[in-house]
Amino acid sequence: MFAALTRAARSSMPFAGEGLRDRLVRGSGDTLSAVMTEMVLRAMVPDDWDAVAELVYTSTNYWYASKGAGAIFAGGPDVARVFPEVYEALDPGCCILAVHPRTGRLMGSCFFHPRETHVSLGIMNVHPAHFGTGVARRLLRHITDLADAADRPATGGDGVGRGLPVRLVSSAMNLDSFSLYTRAGFVPRRTYQDILLAVPAGGLSHDAPGRAQVRSATVADVPAIVALEEELTGIRRGGDFAHFIENRAGIWHVSVLDGRDGRLDAVVASVAHPGSRMVGPGVSRSESGAAAVLLAELDRHRGHSPVFLVPVECGDLVRQVYGWGGRNVEMHVHQVRGACLPFSGVTLPSFMPETG
Ligand SMILES: CC(C)(COP(=O)(O)OP(=O)(O)OC[C@H]1O[C@@H](n2cnc3c(N)ncnc32)[C@H](O)[C@@H]1OP(=O)(O)O)[C@@H](O)C(=O)NCCC(=O)NCCS
Repeated sequence: MFAALTRAARSSMPFAGEGLRDRLVRGSGDTLSAVMTEMVLRAMVPDDWDAVAELVYTSTNYWYASKGAGAIFAGGPDVARVFPEVYEALDPGCCILAVHPRTGRLMGSCFFHPRETHVSLGIMNVHPAHFGTGVARRLLRHITDLADAADRPATGGDGVGRGLPVRLVSSAMNLDSFSLYTRAGFVPRRTYQDILLAVPAGGLSHDAPGRAQVRSATVADVPAIVALEEELTGIRRGGDFAHFIENRAGIWHVSVLDGRDGRLDAVVASVAHPGSRMVGPGVSRSESGAAAVLLAELDRHRGHSPVFLVPVECGDLVRQVYGWGGRNVEMHVHQVRGACLPFSGVTLPSFMPETG
């Protein structure tokens, strides 16, 4: 049964085309079919989407409810289809499942996002029946093995070589995930407060210097967005921003603030979906630039309550956000395994998509 299952897993891998993603997904065929005594790892296929959405919904809500916190997702498991839908559009074939070797039922799932300069990880979920039995550790090791075996590009990270850093944003209030990652060698690099802001139906009347100059991004802005992010954080993910700006799914928008000499000073994206309403990802050279693009992007969510993350050390920005009515709802930590340039400027990460 073991061999049959692993063969089936391998033959069902949706590999297409060439590129870093494909090398990463395929990278270690042996690893992909690796099995501990009690689980089989295989790639997600379209027929798994509903089951994965249900796993993400149930696992996340169960974990938070068991800690006395409210549910994260509401509206039924279908809302969590945003993860397979968005992530398959961005990174086809980049979700690893842990399945029960006898029943084939899902024990865990983890999406990953290969980029030129790094691999991002998330969302990670384990079925509550299997919490604490090593499922997440096994999924995580599969992805870090792929990242370790990947080629580093000539112009990215800390030079040509083997192995890409792995990056993620994990809850600072979830010791299970915090510990999972730090035990695997991830190092917390920046702390964020998650802020929920109820945007009035009539819009946000607050102002910030530069807000009037914020404009919607176009595809022509992608090179400048990439340059800005690489300058501030050392990562490149132009395909993500192109995807948001093209907005084929009708759920994305991107705002930018022009700087000097054709450069940008700030950028932020947002998503509006029943399963995720967030402002981010984005970066800004300054706290005032971050405030300008945040206000403009938040204002597009009138009558809703988007969440966004602000670095805790950005005191001026935090103070302004409180002035807009923002309320802290959680804390998150940017964790990196491997090379990490010091963060500069303001970083505004998102969980949708978790690509940086
Ligand atoms: C967080 C979550 C993925 C963990 O999954 P899991 O399968 O129970 O985790 P594992 O059993 O693989 O254990 C993880 C590791 O953390 C370690 N760990 C857990 N709590 C720890 C603590 N307080 N201190 C130190 N280490 C700890 C475990 O010992 C284990 O390491 P080891 O195998 O080297 O001993 C799971 O609880 C979950 O799905 N929660 C809901 C969704 C969620 O929060 N996802 C994470 C989003 S970032």
